[in-house]
Amino acid sequence: DWSMSAYRAEMQKKIRDQVGSGRVICGLSGGVDSAVAAVLIHEAIGDQLTCVFVDHGLMRMNEAEEVVRLFRDHYNIPLVHVEAEELFLSELAKCGSDPEAKRKTIGRLFIDVFDAEAAKIGGADFLAQGTLYPDVIESVSFSGGPSVTIKSHHNVGGLPERMKMKLVEPLRELFKDEVRVLGRELGLPEAFVGRHPFPGPGLAIRCPGEITKEKLDILRKADAIYLDEIRKAGLYDVIWQAFAVLLPVRTVGVMGDYRTYDHVCALRAVTSVDGMTADFYPYDMAFLGRTATRIINEVKGINRVVYDVTSKPPGTIEWE
Ligand code: XMP
Repeated sequence: DWSMSAYRAEMQKKIRDQVGSGRVICGLSGGVDSAVAAVLIHEAIGDQLTCVFVDHGLMRMNEAEEVVRLFRDHYNIPLVHVEAEELFLSELAKCGSDPEAKRKTIGRLFIDVFDAEAAKIGGADFLAQGTLYPDVIESVSFSGGPSVTIKSHHNVGGLPERMKMKLVEPLRELFKDEVRVLGRELGLPEAFVGRHPFPGPGLAIRCPGEITKEKLDILRKADAIYLDEIRKAGLYDVIWQAFAVLLPVRTVGVMGDYRTYDHVCALRAVTSVDGMTADFYPYDMAFLGRTATRIINEVKGINRVVYDVTSKPPGTIEWE
C-alpha cells in the first residue's frame, strides 16, 4: 500500500524526532494496536525501546503465550513479561462491581507496573501506547453528542499526574482498518493483523459484578468454545468482534437427573467499520443452538446461554 508505506516512513521520522536518544517503554496488550505501535517504534529506534507485556490475568485462553511467542520468536524484539495476575485480581477485588472503578483501577495498575519496569532499566522517558483515533474521541464525547464520558478508556486521559513519562502514540490519527493495513505493511502475520479487537481492561469488563479468578476461568472456557465455533463456521473475518460475557446471575436448570443453579453466559457479536457504531450479528439459530449446547456441556458453572441483539448505539460493544 503506497500511502501506508509513506505513512510508515513519516511516523518513524516523527518518533525519532520526539524521543531523540530517550528510552521508551511500550505496553503490549495482546491486541493489534499495541503490536503495530511496538513494531513501528522498534523499526524507528531499535533498542531504545523496551516492550512490556503485563499479564494481568484478564487475558483470554492462551493469549499471553501467543503474544510472547510473536514478539520473541517472530520479531526478535526483547520483551519483558510481567506476571501481575495477583496484583490485578487483589486490587479488583476491592472494586466491587462498579464498572468505572474497575476501569480506573486497571488503568492505575498498568501505570504502576510500567513505572516499576522503567525503574528497572534505569528509567524511561516515554511510554508508548497503541491509542487509536476512536479511543481518543470516544473517551471524550460520543458521536458528536454532549461531552460526557461513556467509559474511562483504560489508556486515554486517565494517566496520573505523578507519571513522569511522556506519551508516544504513533497511531493516534488512525482508525482500526488503517492500523491493519499498517500492520501488514510491517509484516505482522495475517492471523495477528486480522484478530478481533480486545480491550486493555480485558475480561474484567466482560465479567459484570465482582471479579474472581474462578469466574474468569469459567469465562475463558466459554469464550474459547464460542470463538472456536465462529472459526469453524467461517465467520471470524466477517465479524468485527465476538466474545462471551459471564453474567452475575444464576438460574435454575436441569442436567440429567440433577437440578443445577449456575451462571448465565451472554454471547456478543457485532459487525462494524470502526467500533464507533455497530450492528449485532444475525447468526442463524442452528449456529447459536450448537454453540450454546457446547458451552453448557463443556463448561462447568454455566447452565444457560443467551444472545445479545443490541446494536450500538444504544448499546456499547462491551457490556461495561
Ligand atoms: P465500546 O464498548 O465502548 O467499545 O462500544 C468500542 C471498542 O473499544 C474497545 N474498548 C476498549 N479498548 N481499552 C481498550 O483498549 C478500553 O478501555 C476499552 N473499552 C472498550 C471495545 O472492545 C470495542 O472494540
